[in-house]
Amino acid sequence: MSRQYYIAGNWKMHKTRAEAAALANELVEQLKGASHKYLVAPSFTLIETVAGIVKGTNIRLGAQNMAPEEQGAHTGEVSVLQLKDIGVETVILGHSERRHNYLEYDSLINKKVHLALKHGLEVILCVGELLEEREAGQAEKVCESQIVNGLEDVSAPELANVVIAYEPVWAIGTGKTATPEDADAIHAYIRKVIGRLYSSTAAENIIIQYGGSVKSDNVKALMAKENIDGALVGGASLKSETFVPIAKFS
Ligand code: 13P
Repeated sequence: MSRQYYIAGNWKMHKTRAEAAALANELVEQLKGASHKYLVAPSFTLIETVAGIVKGTNIRLGAQNMAPEEQGAHTGEVSVLQLKDIGVETVILGHSERRHNYLEYDSLINKKVHLALKHGLEVILCVGELLEEREAGQAEKVCESQIVNGLEDVSAPELANVVIAYEPVWAIGTGKTATPEDADAIHAYIRKVIGRLYSSTAAENIIIQYGGSVKSDNVKALMAKENIDGALVGGASLKSETFVPIAKFS
């Protein structure tokens, strides 16, 4: 298997510039030479500060969202051109907090996916079911439709710049992690969907991260599963003491 582990920190709406700089400096220092692929995604106002610190290191720079258009009358939005201008390499799209709290829908997310890929950004496309959907036996169906719609008309070459993050909504920020077996089952299903939409090679190569209460004490068991290729970490990414042990799992 040629897939590389990819550990990403989604800082969500946390930190001032000084706090972000302190954390970024600690991560650069402590992840120097570490073996997996890494990303931090700070809030928009922090990106430029963090960019100056992670530039030229093994930590990629991400954003947590972006507008569906390049520029224009879009009050309150941030454009792909602006993100690229300050060094962003990756954008998280379709996070459950965007889907459920800010009512982002699949066709809007798909538009953002296309725009990001057109501009050469890596996309982390988040999918995941609500608790009631899981309890109703709908987890696979929900993830499948978020993937089919989110990737509509994305070409096979473009898919090489897409990472999927499976984040069951009920596991985000709750301290409840999916068991490694349950997570792996959905990851395997997602891989099957990618195989059907693209090819078996695409299915084999795509990185699928797990997100939802990943901590230093559960990361190893999750990553040991065949179809889990990394983590998208929220709460535990906010301190180097909690993120570095996750990032350096072996
Ligand atoms: P927690 O790690 O805080 O559960 O958040 C996961 C997440 O939403 C990452 O995008």
